[in-house]
Amino acid sequence: MKKILLLGDIHANYPALKAIGQLIKPDRFDRIINTGDFTVYSTFPNETIQWFRKRKKTICILGNTDRKILRILNGKKLKKPKKEEKRVMYFWTSENLLPKNIAYLKSLPEKADFTVGRFRIGVFHGTLEDPDEELFPSAPESRFRQLAKDSPYQVQIMGHSHVPYYKVVDGIHFINPGSVGRMFDSDPRASFAILKIFSKKIAVEHYRIPYAVEAVIADLNNQKLPVIYAKMFRVGKKLN
Ligand SMILES: [Fe+2]
Repeated sequence: MKKILLLGDIHANYPALKAIGQLIKPDRFDRIINTGDFTVYSTFPNETIQWFRKRKKTICILGNTDRKILRILNGKKLKKPKKEEKRVMYFWTSENLLPKNIAYLKSLPEKADFTVGRFRIGVFHGTLEDPDEELFPSAPESRFRQLAKDSPYQVQIMGHSHVPYYKVVDGIHFINPGSVGRMFDSDPRASFAILKIFSKKIAVEHYRIPYAVEAVIADLNNQKLPVIYAKMFRVGKKLN
């Protein structure tokens, strides 16, 4: 049996990532997956990226927030988001990232795949077809069937919707570990998943664990960043 740690949508919330790391001993896993969105909306992008940089056996991809940060750093204009409070978070991140961490982000792909035993596994931020597609578990069955049709992957791991789920449609396993660091469902705890791969079957376990939310809020306040984010982390809900 191989054990794979599934993480995603950390959004620079290092206290949440650290709490997971302390609970489950990440180096014991055969692989550590990150479905992207390392950055933006909390103040620990460097610590978050370094957590992955110092580890072996990681498979990490970029999310939409990371891609936007790289665009800003390349001197491009930030068209979206339009809301000022969101833009502040993007520009704060691009100004505070350390060169080695920028280089690491630049080295990452937008999707990845790997094989464990008989299972071919794809890793996407949105979906196999579109890195910006938010695939919620409530999406019509027909959408899952389209993504299952001719899929070269028996397992599709995704992020971006921030909703943890595991669905099997037409024999294809769709897994979203939820968001480590930016919850949308009124539960402020960190979300992650463990994928166990046996010779002929797989199993998925989802977890929610508490972390030091107040540490995130204190640093947002220290940096004089928009107060709406402090509120969001406290209630575990999207407010903008
Ligand atoms: Fe995200």
